[in-house]
Amino acid sequence: MGRLVTELSKRSNAGVSDLLRVYGRHLFGRFHQGYNGFFNGIKDSFSFLSTVQNVIHVEVRKLYPDAELPEFESTRLAPNHLSMIYRSPRCLGDFAEGLIEGCIAHFGEHIKITRTTEAGGQVVRFDLLKDA
Ligand code: HEM
Repeated sequence: MGRLVTELSKRSNAGVSDLLRVYGRHLFGRFHQGYNGFFNGIKDSFSFLSTVQNVIHVEVRKLYPDAELPEFESTRLAPNHLSMIYRSPRCLGDFAEGLIEGCIAHFGEHIKITRTTEAGGQVVRFDLLKDA
């Protein structure tokens, strides 16, 4: 995916991180169409995002043992505050951010994302704050 996005970035004059974010946002809509089962009984983005590590990517791993998956540590710090720590040697925090944005848009919520990047992008902390 890295090579593809870098080439697209050269040709389209758009930055790599913007492309990854836009791609993530787009892909979320496809997830909803293609894997509707993961949305059963889920009413908001915090609930959905909390299932990525322990439900969604676990199922992905069963189907595709070679998938290169990140690790997410999600903690509900307050009813309106979810923190998600992304860890991956592939440094795809921009892509993750796009997926998170796509998720928030899907549920039609107003949630502010604050991002802190560490270890050259291998660790990204997302603090999601919902309008009270
Ligand atoms: C908003 C929710 C989600 C987030 C934030 C997320 C995040 C990510 C990220 C950032 C990666 C890139 C690999 C890396 O960084 O190491 C990834 C990989 C992957 N995700 Fe998710 N994901 C989400 C939901 C889903 C869903 C719903 C599915 C499928 C039903 C899915 C399937 C996959 C697969 C198959 C890969 C591996 C691709 C490969 O091996 O190249 N993810 N995910």
